Amino acid sequence: MNAIDILVKEHDSILRMIEVTQRILNSKDKTNINLNHVEMIVDFVKKFADKYHHLKEEDVLFVEMEKCGVARNGGPIGVMMSEHDQGRAYIKLVEEGIAQLKIGEYSAFNQIKDNLLSYCNLLTNHINKENNVLYPMALRALSPEIIEVMTVDFKDANLSTPSDEYHGTYLKMVDEISSIYLK
Ligand SMILES: [Fe+2]
Ligand SMILES: [Fe+2]
Repeated sequence: MNAIDILVKEHDSILRMIEVTQRILNSKDKTNINLNHVEMIVDFVKKFADKYHHLKEEDVLFVEMEKCGVARNGGPIGVMMSEHDQGRAYIKLVEEGIAQLKIGEYSAFNQIKDNLLSYCNLLTNHINKENNVLYPMALRALSPEIIEVMTVDFKDANLSTPSDEYHGTYLKMVDEISSIYLK
């Protein structure tokens, strides 16, 4: 499995969580929505999707692609970066909504739902673009040696997260929560 395969596999985990999120939030019975599960999803998005996945792209992959002549501003890398930022903005509003809901502001439910569903749409399209356009572009632009260095980096990074949370907390969370909602 090379560095790009690792990123695609992370996309698969993120897409499963997106499916769970849509299943939870589109439930007809609002009183049935488990806020703990919504908070788990927000935690997953912030740590697994944003910290572990997006930072591999922003700090490693995009940097290497730029060195090989792929433009950042006005090009696909710039678009991907601004979509990461848009996702962070949605999640910040979701967190604000959760905090309000917890102090009894039940009207905040719509803020949570709208922003989390917008995040799901954004990320689904974003992942499609990366899988089908950006990553193939990276495979053409980067030398096998650079891909090999990235592969070792990504494998090491995933094995050295605090308390093995990459595998032990987040990949496990995807399995556990999808076994509840995606039958
Ligand atoms: Fe991305
Ligand atoms: Fe990605």
